[in-house]
Order: sequence, then C-alpha cells, then structure tokens
Amino acid sequence: MQSELRKQLLNAFSNADGEYLSGQYLADLLGCSRTAVWKHIEELRKEGFELEAVRKKGYRIIKTPEKVTADEIRLGLKTKLLGSLIHYEETVDSTQKIAQKLAYKGVPEGTVIVAEEQLKGRGRLARNWHSAKSTGIWMSIILRPNIPIPKAPQLTLITAVAAVQAIEEVSGIRAHIKWPNDILINGKKLAGILTELQAEADRIFSIIIGIGINANQKAEDFPEELRSIATSIFLEKGEPIKRAELIKVFLSKLETLYLLYLEKGFHPIKLLWESYAISIGKQIIARTLSGSIKGTALGITEDGVLIMEDKLGEKHYIYSADIDLSAD
Ligand code: BTN
Repeated sequence: MQSELRKQLLNAFSNADGEYLSGQYLADLLGCSRTAVWKHIEELRKEGFELEAVRKKGYRIIKTPEKVTADEIRLGLKTKLLGSLIHYEETVDSTQKIAQKLAYKGVPEGTVIVAEEQLKGRGRLARNWHSAKSTGIWMSIILRPNIPIPKAPQLTLITAVAAVQAIEEVSGIRAHIKWPNDILINGKKLAGILTELQAEADRIFSIIIGIGINANQKAEDFPEELRSIATSIFLEKGEPIKRAELIKVFLSKLETLYLLYLEKGFHPIKLLWESYAISIGKQIIARTLSGSIKGTALGITEDGVLIMEDKLGEKHYIYSADIDLSAD
C-alpha cells in the first residue's frame, strides 16, 4: 500500500502543476528530512517517472510512466473518497480476490486495487476475463453504501455510466451499455463490470466493483476466440491512451455519481443509464437461469431491473440474464 508520505509528495507535485518544488519546501511540507525526500524521488525514478532536478530551484516531474502504479494514479487524482488507498501489484490472480481480503480486514471505503496483469481474471457467470499484461485496466473498488441488499446491483449500473463517460472524455469514443454491465462499441465488448457482495443476512458489509477496460490491446493481444467479440480503445481509435489517465477520470466520474446516488437515490442515474443504453426499444433475447425470453426491452425500473415485453404483451422483470440483440 502507498505510504502517506508518498501520497503527500505526489499531491504536492500535482498542485505544483509542472513548477519546481525545492527539497527544503518538500521536507517542510511533509515533515521529514531532505534525505527522505530524495529517497522518495529516487523511488519514483525507479518506477519510471522522469524528474528534473535543478540547483536552487528543486524538482519537477517531466514525464510519467505508462503504468498503473499507485504513484501514477495518485498524481493529479481529484477524488476525495475513491482511491483514498491504492493497492497496486504487478501480477495478481484477480484484483477481486485481493479486494475481498482487504475488505474483510476493514480497509477504508474507496480503496482501489489495481494490477498490470491478472492470471485468473474473473468475469460474470464464472467466466474468465482475459487480462493481458499492461494492456488494459484491471481494477477493483471497495464501497460500503448503507443500502438494502436488493439494491446492490444498482452499483453495476452506476459504474457502467461512469465508465462510458470516462472513456468518452479520455478517448472521444462514445460507447454504449448493454444491460446490465457490458460496455460495447460497434457491437464488440470494450469493458465489463463484475459486482460482488460481502453481506450478512440483512446488511451489506462491502460491495466490490470489478472493472476491466480493454485499453491498448492490439488484435493479436486477444486470444483467437475473442477477436470477433472484443475490442479495445486502441483498436477503435487507432492510438493508445494513458491508462492511468483513464483510471483517474473514471474514479472521478464514479465518485460524483456514487455521491449523487447516496444523496438523491437511483432516479438521476437511471436517466443517465438509459441515455447510454443500446437495447432499449429493441428486440432482445434474455437468457436467464430458468430459460430464455424473447421480446422488446422497454427500459429499467426505478431499481435498475430490466423490463421486457413479449409478443403477447406480457411484461417480464429481469434481475439477472445474458442479453443478446435478436435478429427479428
Ligand atoms: C464481465 O463482463 O463478465 C465482467 C468482467 C470484469 C473483469 C474485471 S477485471 C478487474 C476485476 N478482477 C477480476 O477478476 N474481474 C474484474
């Protein structure tokens, strides 16, 4: 986990906006020795940050690495709650697994777990999530909203809205949401969300939101069987993005929407979600555990449940399913 001192140092550089900060100024600000400041600067350099040191002026950051380390995310992060703690590891089985453990230990709400690579990335419905090294965003976020258990899936929809907004802001690509959690562009999957719950009988202990965003993969970075159904920002835009930048913008959007949700409820989120949804008004097939239903997607309820109408005019409320757009 990132030390408090490192957090303050990066915040100081963020606030300095490219200006020099002297060693003495930083030592006073952080309440440590100039040698301690220098050691932190050296560690940042080892991580790939380029820092210029000029006599009588001090230090400034001139280049940041294309990594998603805690330091890289912290620099310029504008959130108050999300990312209050950032846990980074180069390689993990699944960031969800680490988040589960940390949540049990009682880490603060807003803790973020991020990795360059997942060896056993998990998708919905016990599927695998392909998470090749340093290509995408593989991240979990721990939330502790005081809401009843049946409302937990709303967090998936909130996250989907934040992801679409952040992807658009950073890359200019307007993606769409397929209920409940797929972020698509031209029918191919760009990102997915997995929401898991730690709860007692009637109380949520924590909600772990896992998000995977395909950022900089080239076609050959996907396994053969995914190439026709998955895409990345790079493939759509033709140029790579800075993953840490996308994470910062995403955390900022998610924090805004989450706080809005806690204050005003799901309604404002519902309206936003519907404006990004692709399936509304279309013929779809919902594959549920108890069978498939064909019909028109009408929208979502005030709770985030998908409403469908079959050809006999009967309404169906879908809580969990895989959705396909139907040909007829
Ligand atoms: C899906 O569309 O099926 C959900 C995919 C969720 C993938 C993310 S990547 C970060 C986090 N860790 C995991 O193991 N899964 C989620």
